[in-house]
Amino acid sequence: MARAAKSRPLRDVADLTKAQAKVEHMRLALELEGHDKRYYQDDAPTVTDAEYDALRQRFNAIEKRFPEFVSAESPSQKVGAAPSGRFKKVRHSIPMLSLDNAFAEEDVRDFVGRIVRFLKLDDDKVDFSAEPKIDGLSMSLRYEGGELVTAATRGDGAEGEDVTANIRTLEDVPQKLKGRNVPDICEVRGEVYMTKKAFLALNERQKAAGDTIFANPRNSAAGSLRQKDPTITASRPLGFFAYAWGEMSAGAMPEDTQSGMIRWFERCGFKTNPLTKLCHSVEELLAFHHSIEEQRAKLDYDIDGVVYKVDRIDWQERLGFVSRTPRWGIAHKFPAERAMTVLRDIEIQVGRTGSFTPVGKLEPVGVGGVIVQNVTLHNEDYIKGIGNKGEVLREGRDIRIGDTVVIQRAGDVIPQVVDVVLDKRPKDAKEFHFPKKCPCPLHTDVTREETAAGEEGSRARCTGEFACPYQKIEHLKLFVSRRAFDIDGLGEKQLQYFFDEGWVKEPADIFTLEKRNSKLKLEEIEGYGATSVRNLFGAIESRRKIALERFVYALGMRHVGETTALALARGYGSWDAFHDACLKVARGDEEAMAEMDALDQIGDTVIKSIADYFGESHNRGIVERLTKEVEIIDAEKPKSNSAVAGKTVVFTGSLEKMTRDEAKATAERLGAKVSGSVSKKTDLVVAGPGAGSKLAEANKHGVKVLTEDEWLKLIGE
Ligand code: IVH
Repeated sequence: MARAAKSRPLRDVADLTKAQAKVEHMRLALELEGHDKRYYQDDAPTVTDAEYDALRQRFNAIEKRFPEFVSAESPSQKVGAAPSGRFKKVRHSIPMLSLDNAFAEEDVRDFVGRIVRFLKLDDDKVDFSAEPKIDGLSMSLRYEGGELVTAATRGDGAEGEDVTANIRTLEDVPQKLKGRNVPDICEVRGEVYMTKKAFLALNERQKAAGDTIFANPRNSAAGSLRQKDPTITASRPLGFFAYAWGEMSAGAMPEDTQSGMIRWFERCGFKTNPLTKLCHSVEELLAFHHSIEEQRAKLDYDIDGVVYKVDRIDWQERLGFVSRTPRWGIAHKFPAERAMTVLRDIEIQVGRTGSFTPVGKLEPVGVGGVIVQNVTLHNEDYIKGIGNKGEVLREGRDIRIGDTVVIQRAGDVIPQVVDVVLDKRPKDAKEFHFPKKCPCPLHTDVTREETAAGEEGSRARCTGEFACPYQKIEHLKLFVSRRAFDIDGLGEKQLQYFFDEGWVKEPADIFTLEKRNSKLKLEEIEGYGATSVRNLFGAIESRRKIALERFVYALGMRHVGETTALALARGYGSWDAFHDACLKVARGDEEAMAEMDALDQIGDTVIKSIADYFGESHNRGIVERLTKEVEIIDAEKPKSNSAVAGKTVVFTGSLEKMTRDEAKATAERLGAKVSGSVSKKTDLVVAGPGAGSKLAEANKHGVKVLTEDEWLKLIGE
């Protein structure tokens, strides 16, 4: 980024050089992401709709001129973002939840087994509706008195966007439900999708007109639905399959099975997926999966697996939900998609804690709708083909620069190399030699340590700690990240820039940026501007107050992840108490160590890491300067005077008045310990309908059993 003349008016997109456009594109992408988050998640927008639209328009204009900037991550491609304007929010009367995933046959057998046990059936004669899992956007259509009144996207499950005007343009969505005896209130749910053929044709048209090119049919369906102008949606061929329901007037369920409901949707005028099938056993479910997978490539719409649902609705109701997914249904996904490409180079990335991760630089290749250019190679032994047991990389394969590799990507999982095509290995393929020095300018020595559980091989680490600039920047990135200080508009690239310029060397510097800005003049950075700078300072200011657990996590101590940070925050309650304990632990104070050790989830590794961190004067300085800038909010200490303080509680069966997570959180807040299994040490078991083996265990050990209501009475709620 180069500095430009002072307070420039916005240049016409047509006059930007490619480099300038790139910087602005990046900045706008971050800015839009921030605004979307504040609008959709925090309900606290900081700009007007008109200002937002202007940013979007400029962003779209840049992408239109330089289509090569479009990536799958661009806000123009995001399913959760609006290409133009915003839509009214709609609260779902019944949340739109998601399904748990099964990948292996075993997962499906376990799923059925759990159902049979839960329902205490004598045999496994459960009927399932088996349906293709359409890779589109789920939609909830609300009919009142038989007329379509609202169409809403899933959003975060609780609240979606009102896209009624656009949905009305879909041929597959009836404006009025057919048939008599339609429930007065009736929400039909299903998937909006675009056919592969329509997607390809649309992209051709978009290309010719210089408009956004979509990465896959799902993105193009999302983009087509989120148009401010319904005539645009009308020009895009979108389909809809009905497969579920939300609110229905009391006592008006038209059918008592999932398969019956599907037939009822058809009678109402909806399309349902023609491959849907009623299955009577696990074997039939697996055969269905296999058969659909074989047909997948030939289908004219994208699917990413199949869905199994218990057919009887009364059983679905008894089975209920575990946190956010139903016990009565599961998505059986298809295996990860694979692609072949060439490994061009291997680079070393130095993480926040100094550990080295070799990253494979690939000849870009599309896998499952995403362009992949980087792939993690884990560690030295993995590259040598000796550090794995063939679980990921095919056994005995070593990886060389120049090799043709097979990469795999499953869902959100980071892509991995799963095989090396030896036949294609060029004569000049280069073996990779792991560096003996850190690639940072200090060239510090490298040590080795055993990797975390579950990962094979040893990990190389830089010994430079905070003196190593790579570690410093990674640490700063963690500091501003979503789960730590969550500073909008200070993305990785900006941070790197501020760091390279020497403006932000440690966390406290972020909070003094505004004070120093009369000298720094951030608004003069090319591609920045007065508004972005004002927004950035606003975002920083709003984060000056921070919860203790986030603060502890943001310090970036090794082995102190979010859960550990929360346990520490709850254990000590205030920053002063925690800080005092850390300093004592660092001095080897045995009493302080024992006190920390007594906390739930805290053990030797964490204590040693805290001692190391606070044993370093450099770190103590960083913390001291930072605490002068921010206000740390005390954590809620678990109550010690409640009826259940100190007791070990197990929840089993289905709870009706609260979710499991809620029940657990409340119990913990009241000082109880929540466990997943019953033993002699358990004090109380709270059993809801459907409780099985845990209830039996409780009776065996003579543990006191309460109903949900009795529990609520005990805790006074
Ligand atoms: S039933 C409680 N049936 O998959 C959730 N979902 O992870 C009930 N999907 O958000 C959903 N095809 O977008 C269901 N035949 C089908 C589906 C399907 C695709 C999507 C849907 C949902 C996600 C669930």
